[in-house]
Amino acid sequence: MDIAEKIEEIKVLTRKARTSGKSIGFVPTMGALHAGHVSLIEAACSRTDYVVVSIFVNPVQFSPGEDLENYPRTLEDDRAKCQSAGADLIFVPSVKEMYPDKLQSWVEVEGQLTENLCGKSRPGHFRGVTTVCAKLFNIVMPDIAFFGRKDAQQAAVLKKMVKDLNMPLQLQVCPIIREKSGLAMSSRNKYLSDKERQDAAVLYQSLVKCREMVDSGTRNARLLVDTMRKMISNVDGAEIDYIQIVDPDTLEDVDTVEKQAMAALAVKIGPARLIDNIMLNVS
Ligand code: PAJ
Repeated sequence: MDIAEKIEEIKVLTRKARTSGKSIGFVPTMGALHAGHVSLIEAACSRTDYVVVSIFVNPVQFSPGEDLENYPRTLEDDRAKCQSAGADLIFVPSVKEMYPDKLQSWVEVEGQLTENLCGKSRPGHFRGVTTVCAKLFNIVMPDIAFFGRKDAQQAAVLKKMVKDLNMPLQLQVCPIIREKSGLAMSSRNKYLSDKERQDAAVLYQSLVKCREMVDSGTRNARLLVDTMRKMISNVDGAEIDYIQIVDPDTLEDVDTVEKQAMAALAVKIGPARLIDNIMLNVS
């Protein structure tokens, strides 16, 4: 496995793989890798011949006052995880390498896709994500890029960007990997105390309850949201940012679950803002 910090090195190594007939898989990350990230690397290894993982804490997707400075950085451990998962190349650029001078070109997806859900409390966040992913796609030129459904809004926004701008790659969205308690794995779980980590299991429990209600015939989104809100409010100190039922592609709110929908939530538990979601299927 190679590690490179420079864009030019990545271009040379990926070009070499491409000219020898290999397909290129790409897993963009911000590091502090856990089993969720590893599952994406493994999916990439099973579908493509040469797998590139990027580790870059992207400053332009953080708003002032968010956790950019405190974001966990665990490069040695990340390197070992990439290696054992089968990655071929890790790209670890500096901020200077990615943003050598003031950025004046941005890639922005408009409308509910970026304005609903996390877009409401994190203005500018998705513009930072789409811009860095467009840059990374141009550097790595992958055939397939792999993303987790844990960040379902991010995946939906990036899919739209790739479609709208005819970017020459496919996006594959992979399942959410959870801890035993059901808590979705996240680099930000590192901020939780043992007690908070236990409390945080209520997020998934509320999503499962929502799915069970849909399975047994409830269609009214307000009723579903109210039930989840009650469960989560029982946890001392849980601060709900949003709980919503949306169309999984457009991310527009739905009042009645008539076809496949997604329940999505963001809740602050202690110092960590956690997000999670579940698909609601109607047969
Ligand atoms: P990061 O939070 O490091 O996540 C990298 C990828 O791992 C994303 O596609 C995310 O959805 C996926 N992931 C995280 N937790 C997961 C879990 N429990 N199960 C499955 N997949 C999971 O998302 C980002 O970084 C950044 O916004 C990035 C796309 C790299 C752009 O900077």
